[in-house]
Amino acid sequence: MAKIEVREHTLKLPSTNVDYDLGGANGIGKTAACMFHEYGAKVVIGDLATSAGEKLAAQLGERALFQTMDVDDWVSQRNLFDAAMQAFGSIDVVCANVAIPEKENWLFEDKLDADGRLAEPDLKLIDVNLKGVMRSCKLAMHYFRKNSIPGGAIVITGFAASSVPVFSEIRDSDTYESKHALLGLMRSLAVVGRPLGIRTNMVAPWLTG
Ligand SMILES: NC(=O)c1ccc[n+]([C@@H]2O[C@H](COP(=O)([O-])OP(=O)(O)OC[C@H]3O[C@@H](n4cnc5c(N)ncnc54)[C@H](O)[C@@H]3O)[C@@H](O)[C@H]2O)c1
Repeated sequence: MAKIEVREHTLKLPSTNVDYDLGGANGIGKTAACMFHEYGAKVVIGDLATSAGEKLAAQLGERALFQTMDVDDWVSQRNLFDAAMQAFGSIDVVCANVAIPEKENWLFEDKLDADGRLAEPDLKLIDVNLKGVMRSCKLAMHYFRKNSIPGGAIVITGFAASSVPVFSEIRDSDTYESKHALLGLMRSLAVVGRPLGIRTNMVAPWLTG
């Protein structure tokens, strides 16, 4: 298995650093939030999973804030950024990590509406996985301008399938469509954000155990 050596000095963060972690109550986002916190960051966690998020914030204690948030709801996301700004005075790193798995096989399975005609497929996944991250990026760019030194870092969680059609044999396409789109978003933001002091990167995991 591939192994990445994490060097302690690379991770040492200034005490003012605020990480804003979306979907941070569980899984990869939770681990990222814990690592940021361990290395001295103030951490703001936003997630739909209220009890898991509250438990994590209580566990982390000082320098941690949790607020229930839905990435598919602009006001809900904006409220979290406001709360982060109010609590800690700056937002330096935004981890846009939320994604939901495929709900239905929209491309290959036909569903009929009440009139027996082909029903519109459920594309909620795109609303969450793609538009949710776009909202996060918009908010990040806005709030980074308010920092005493304008700028910050955006980390988007993609997928190994963001860049290669590894699942072409599996008919679970909208997960991969959304993750491909995020790669394009990251590449564009990396260029247009650079003059504004905004660094944009993607982590593209394979499968966690
Ligand atoms: N785990 C893997 O093997 C793997 C592989 C490739 C990519 N990824 C990507 O990594 C990221 C995290 O995956 P994970 O496995 O840790 O997921 P997870 O399901 O463990 O955690 C996702 C979190 O997002 C939250 N969430 C879901 N919908 C939300 C919404 N609308 N608003 C706010 N929060 C919401 C959930 O409550 C949950 O806490 C995802 O973007 C996923 O696509 C994971």
